Amino acid sequence: MKLLSLKINSLSDVFIQELRDIYSAENQLVDALPKLADAASSLELKAGFEAHLDQTKEHVARLERIFEALGIDPGGESCEAMEGLVSEGKDYIGAEGDPDSRDVGLIAIAQKVEHYEIAGYGTLRALALHLNNPSAAELLEQTLDEEAKTDQKLTGIAERILRAGPNRAE
Ligand SMILES: [Fe+2]
Repeated sequence: MKLLSLKINSLSDVFIQELRDIYSAENQLVDALPKLADAASSLELKAGFEAHLDQTKEHVARLERIFEALGIDPGGESCEAMEGLVSEGKDYIGAEGDPDSRDVGLIAIAQKVEHYEIAGYGTLRALALHLNNPSAAELLEQTLDEEAKTDQKLTGIAERILRAGPNRAE
C-alpha cells in the first residue's frame, strides 16, 4: 500500500483503499495457492489449499460485487504485504528436505496470509457498518468467517502432521 500519493479525507476513502488492498491480496493468492498445493506433500494439505483456491475466487467475486455497487473500479493497487508473504512462501516451495517439515513451513505462511486477511476483512466489515452499507458488511462477514475457518483448518492439519510425522515429540 502506497499512502504517499493518496488523499484520505474520510472513512469512505479508507474503506475504498482497504478494499483495493485486499482485492490485490486475494488476486495474488489466486496465483499462489496452486503453487502451494503443488508443493504440499500431505494430501490433506494439498486438498485444503485447493479448496481454499475455490473460496478465494469467490472472495474476489464478492469484492467485485462491492466495487460494482459502489460504482468504483478495483484500481491497480498492489498489496505489498501479500507480495512479501508470497515471496516468503517461495522459500518453502523451492526447499528440499523433509516433506513433513516443509509442509509445516507452508502452513506457517498460509496462516500468516489468513491472519492478514482476517485483519483486513474485520476492519472492512466494521467500516461498512459504520458507513451504513449493510449489504457490503454482509458479504465481508461471509468472507471473514471463511478465512477464520481456513485458519482453524490449517491448525488442525499442522497438528496432525506433527503427531504423525517422524519428527514428532516422544
Ligand atoms: Fe480470501
